[in-house]
Amino acid sequence: MIDSSIIHYYDEIASSYNSRLEKDARNCHVRNYVRQYVLELKNVQRVMDFGGGTGLDLPWLIENDFDIVFCEPSTKMSAIARQLVSDRFPNASITFEIGASADFSKWCKSPDNQVDVILSNFSALNSIANIGLAFKQLGLRLTHRGHLITVLTHFPQSTTSWDKSRSCMAKQQVSTVSIGSRSMKVYYYQKKHLVEIAKTYFDLAYYQALTPYGFHFYHWIKR
Ligand SMILES: C[S@@+](CC[C@H](N)C(=O)[O-])C[C@H]1O[C@@H](n2cnc3c(N)ncnc32)[C@H](O)[C@@H]1O
Repeated sequence: MIDSSIIHYYDEIASSYNSRLEKDARNCHVRNYVRQYVLELKNVQRVMDFGGGTGLDLPWLIENDFDIVFCEPSTKMSAIARQLVSDRFPNASITFEIGASADFSKWCKSPDNQVDVILSNFSALNSIANIGLAFKQLGLRLTHRGHLITVLTHFPQSTTSWDKSRSCMAKQQVSTVSIGSRSMKVYYYQKKHLVEIAKTYFDLAYYQALTPYGFHFYHWIKR
């Protein structure tokens, strides 16, 4: 089950989400980096935008003729994405997995619902407490040797040496973010812990710290 605080938080932020991102030009660089990387992958037909939000990756996915699965639990975020599609790309081929059908914990393996790439851009995985289950379930939706692209925020570097050693040991750190009366938990990981957690299902093919931008890029390949 998706934690309802996440859905309430993103429902609350939905109408201001795009303008908040646009305020910081660095976000544009990150999105361009991810787009360029995905477009260089070979033999890709079906792409899932996991935690697709307001659909900011949809224009380039549609323009490059991918068959798209758009997965988003917040109905207000996804409503903005749907509006974008009907306004600008009325003939696009998109399957929307919205609300309860975005709940990855309920997914089953089926050749009919598999995709070649899952893109999880701008920290969608940072909202997920059980990241091990997420890797397992995302793996079910991927074709053989399919690609999982994740862009995550790591937990902030600690300042004191005591904090540093504690941070290095902790597999997960949690903080709370709030908007208005809504708040949700954010889960942070370090690269070595993600590799350890994912290893039953994925190999790490490429990693890049997008340091000045505050994000970390991971390309995983399904085992
Ligand atoms: C920061 S937004 C990123 C939106 C979009 N990917 C982008 O690049 O702008 C994170 C998104 O992840 C979604 N999300 C959070 N938990 C999720 C889950 N368990 N499954 C799928 N999506 C989730 C949120 O609803 C939110 O829309």
